[in-house]
Amino acid sequence: MCGIVGYVGERSSIEVLLGGLRRLEYRGYDSAGVAIVTPGNGLVSHKRSGKLGILSDDLGHNPLAEGHTGIAHTRWATHGGPTDENAHPHLGDGGKLALIHNGIIENFHELKQELLAEGEEFLSQTDSEVAALMVGRSYREHGNLTKAMQEVVSRLEGAFTLLVVHQDQPGVVVGARRNSPLVVGLGEGENFLGSDVAAFVAYTKKAMALGQDQIVTLRSTEVSVITFDGEPVEAAPFDIDWDASAADKGGWSSFMAKEISEEPEAVANTLRGRLGDDGLVALPELDALIGDGSAINRIIFVACGTASYASMVGLYAIEKWSGIPVGVELSHEFRYREPAIDEHTLVVSVSQSGETMDTLMAVRYAAERGAKTLSICNTQGATIPRESGAALYTHAGPEVAVASTKAFLAQVVACYLLGMYLGQARGLLSTKESAALADDLHKLPGQLEEMVKTGPRIQELARWMADTRSVLYLGRHVGYPIALEGALKLKELAYIHAEGFAAGELKHGPIALIEPGQIVFVIVPSPRDPMSLHSKVVSNIQEIRARGARVIALAEQGDAAVLPFADEVIPIPLTSTFMEPLLAVVPLHIFGMELAGAKGLDIDQPRNLAKSVTVE
Ligand code: F6R
Repeated sequence: MCGIVGYVGERSSIEVLLGGLRRLEYRGYDSAGVAIVTPGNGLVSHKRSGKLGILSDDLGHNPLAEGHTGIAHTRWATHGGPTDENAHPHLGDGGKLALIHNGIIENFHELKQELLAEGEEFLSQTDSEVAALMVGRSYREHGNLTKAMQEVVSRLEGAFTLLVVHQDQPGVVVGARRNSPLVVGLGEGENFLGSDVAAFVAYTKKAMALGQDQIVTLRSTEVSVITFDGEPVEAAPFDIDWDASAADKGGWSSFMAKEISEEPEAVANTLRGRLGDDGLVALPELDALIGDGSAINRIIFVACGTASYASMVGLYAIEKWSGIPVGVELSHEFRYREPAIDEHTLVVSVSQSGETMDTLMAVRYAAERGAKTLSICNTQGATIPRESGAALYTHAGPEVAVASTKAFLAQVVACYLLGMYLGQARGLLSTKESAALADDLHKLPGQLEEMVKTGPRIQELARWMADTRSVLYLGRHVGYPIALEGALKLKELAYIHAEGFAAGELKHGPIALIEPGQIVFVIVPSPRDPMSLHSKVVSNIQEIRARGARVIALAEQGDAAVLPFADEVIPIPLTSTFMEPLLAVVPLHIFGMELAGAKGLDIDQPRNLAKSVTVE
């Protein structure tokens, strides 16, 4: 949560900083601010509550003095409401130093009391201002910004990324991180800092992730890193494989519309080079961790929200193909129930951002107890993959809209690759089965293109339902997590009551919710499905129709059995059981987006949310 940008170089820093904030605004959008060290006017800064556009407009009318060193912040409020005063940067050393912060300083209250007793005055209700005043005081003492930062971080508890600039140190930005992300962008005669690479990918494709408890001192031609204890660190650079334009909206009305249109490509990219036509899976990045799979007797997925639903789809596949028992847990519940895990447990975290604090903590907990840890992640250089035993990257490209769409599909595909890899390593998945799955998976991108084309029809449905107050989703087997995902998208985007149920659970309670006019989306398994779940779900449709529900069925093309009972049928191309959820989810993503649009809501930045939840 909160987006952070830093810059030192030849360019006008305001342009770089506002551009970076625009690309990071999905991380928080309660308020925004910038601070620049100028050659003639010392430190200048401006901050405003509200979205980034408000700050940009202000700066358009009253530009700040030019400078080549600066920091900028977009906020998701934790301590103190989203007001101008609580926006970052916060100032220290009598206004000569500016600081921005992402995270929560847990011991800020006692530090604040200390500072108040020493006569410091606070202008905000934030925990962050404590750090600004402390770094300012320490800098006054010995005139070294890196040392000041080092002194202060040793007193802070909690999660933080901090960036500071000082007017007496033009050409220097100092950053520190503990439990919150910070990545360095390495340019020619210029360097960058960002909460993630999206902040600077327009300028450089070379980056370096800062490790836990490290401090970076950034100059235009030099980047030096030390630990909180002052030990020098050699950090390895990596190449960013995102296209700079990928983080731009292009001609689309919203990032979410663009990202849904990229769902076929996200799947194709995640498969690329990993799955032969014969069905053999090559994932060399997992070989050292997993070997022949014989040392693993249990798999536990840890994830939150949409990523947990992708994991649930993965559960059905991986358990079936590898014969290993699989469980899925919400990251924030996992470590508090003291799970019985050991070196034979593979804990797989799934996270688009790779920074979700709850998931990171679950991974650390698992590693401390000797479990093998594997990260399925979409963001290079993020903390979770770096702290895991191995990383399987999804290649969905940058996801900017707060609600996750294309990353979900890429996560499911990565889970399938993992399941096939384990099934093959353990000799349980036959050559014939592998080849059939490969065939289905390779067909997916083309079939997903067809699903994306359902857009105009779904838009009509959404317009027709703009006043709806409640929508239910039913699914079974791999369709069940899709029902949960459809409901989550509607809640977070359109702010209406939505719930997903396992269709088999209907008669155990939820059917009481059905009254005339209740809209229910039903994900119908294929009539060719070997488990014969089709007829059971069709019976469920009849049961709810008999009680007045309006049914929108997502059913296989030509499935005549649902036609008499559905008000609308969205056809799904012919495929196999495990591919159907990937196809069925597309219209549900579109529906969430279109209903939000029909209600005039902000599609990319729904209220109260932030894309990367880096606080617990
Ligand atoms: C919903 C959504 C969230 C995220 C969740 C985990 O549309 O985006 O539920 O899936 O916050 O985020 P990551 O995948 O970054 O760990």
